[in-house]
Amino acid sequence: MSQSNAVRLEHPALAPTRLGGQTLANRLAVAPMTRVSASPAGVPTPAMVDYYARFARGGFGLVITEGTYTDETFSQGYLHQPGLASPAQVSAWSEVTAKVHAEGARIVAQLMHAGALSQGNPHRDGTVGPSAIRPRGEMMPEYRGSGLWPVPAAMTAYDIDEAVEGFVDAAAHACAAGFDGIEVHAANGYLLDQFLTTYTNHRDDEYGGSVANRVRLTARIVTAIRVALGPDFWVGVRLSQTKVNDFEYRWPGGSADARVIFAALGEAGATYLHVASEGRNWIETARLDGDGDGNGAGPGGTITALARDVSGLPVIANGGMHDVEQAAQVLTGGHADLLALARGALANPDFPQRLAAGERLREFDHSMLTPMATLENAERWRRAVDLPSSDAAAAGSEEART
Ligand SMILES: Cc1cc2nc3c(=O)[nH]c(=O)nc-3n(C[C@H](O)[C@H](O)[C@H](O)COP(=O)(O)O)c2cc1C
Repeated sequence: MSQSNAVRLEHPALAPTRLGGQTLANRLAVAPMTRVSASPAGVPTPAMVDYYARFARGGFGLVITEGTYTDETFSQGYLHQPGLASPAQVSAWSEVTAKVHAEGARIVAQLMHAGALSQGNPHRDGTVGPSAIRPRGEMMPEYRGSGLWPVPAAMTAYDIDEAVEGFVDAAAHACAAGFDGIEVHAANGYLLDQFLTTYTNHRDDEYGGSVANRVRLTARIVTAIRVALGPDFWVGVRLSQTKVNDFEYRWPGGSADARVIFAALGEAGATYLHVASEGRNWIETARLDGDGDGNGAGPGGTITALARDVSGLPVIANGGMHDVEQAAQVLTGGHADLLALARGALANPDFPQRLAAGERLREFDHSMLTPMATLENAERWRRAVDLPSSDAAAAGSEEART
C-alpha cells in the first residue's frame, strides 16, 4: 500500500489536537483490544507493558486499553482479562502508564462490565443483565469461550448500585495507576449496551422503556465518576449500534435516538464520545435513518458528526480507519476529531510514523489472533512468519512473507 505525497504530507490525522484540556501529539488512537493475556488474577504482565509501550513508541497520540473489568462480582468477561479492582492490578497498570507516558503518549483505561456477555468469571457463578434474556449467538473462542451464553439474572436495584460503585472505584484505581482518564464501555453488546438495546432490556423501571431511560445507567455512571474524580480526569464513553454478537442492530429510533443518547452523555459530564462500529466499517453504521441527509446533521451527515453537534464534545470515529483516504475524509469533513484504529494498529504498531514517513502500511493478518487473541499467540505467529522481535506485539502478513 503506497501513499501519495499529498496524503502523506498533509494527512490531517498527524495534526496535534486537544482533549480534556490537554494536548495530544496527533489524532490517532489505539482502539481498545481485548488480548486475554493477563495473569489468572487479572494482573497485567510485563508482556502487556511492552505491548502498550510499542504503540506509544510508534507515535500514537492516545492509547486506549483493552476492556478492563471493574469489580470482583459480575463484571469480568473473560478468563485472563485484566482488572482494575485489586491493589496488584493497580500496581501493574502503573508500570504500563509510566512506560506509555515516557514515550510521549496519553493513555486511557477502558472500563468494562460484561453483563450477560460474560464467558469467564472466577468471582461469581452465573451472569447478570438488564433482563433474563439469553444473548444472541455463541461465546467467542478467541477469548476462551464456547457454546451458548447463559441466561442472565435480571439485575435488582441493589445489583445496579453495586455495578455503578464498581465503575467509580475502578476509575479511582485508574487515576491512582496514572491513567489520564477512563473510557466507559457502553458499546459492542456488553452490560451498558444491553441496557441501551431494546431486545435485551425489557425492564419497566426507570432504566427500561424509552431511550432516555435505557441510556440512564451509562449517564449515571459518567456523572458518578465525574463527581468522584473532578473535572480534570477524562471520562470518555464508547458507544456502538452493532455488537460482538449482532452486526445488524441499529438504534431503532435512528437520529432521534442518537440525539437523546448524545445529549444525555454530554449533560452527564463526558469528556469525549467514541463511536465504534463492531464488525463493520465506520461508513456502514455511520449513516442514520437510511440516508446521509436524514439525521439532522446536515447534508452527508453521519452519526459521528451528529455526536459532535449534539454533545459539543470531541468525537472519536472507529471502523476501518487504516484506510488513509477514508481517515482523511472523516477528519476534513468534520465527522470526527480523532480516529481509533484496532486491526490497523495491530498490523502497524508504528502506524503514525509510517504515515508521516510515507512508508508502506502492512495488511492485517487475522491468523495472529487465531486460535486465541493472546499476546503469546501473536508472538508464535510472529516467529512462524519470521518478523523482527521489535514487532512482537503485532505485525502483518504482506511484509512478513516477502
Ligand atoms: C482483537 C480485538 C479485540 C477487541 N477488543 C475490544 C475491547 O476490549 N473493547 C472494545 O470496545 N472493542 C474491542 N474491539 C473492537 C475494536 O476496538 C474496533 O472497534 C474494531 O476492531 C473495528 O476497528 P478497526 O476497523 O480499526 O479494526 C476489539 C477488536 C479486536 C480486533
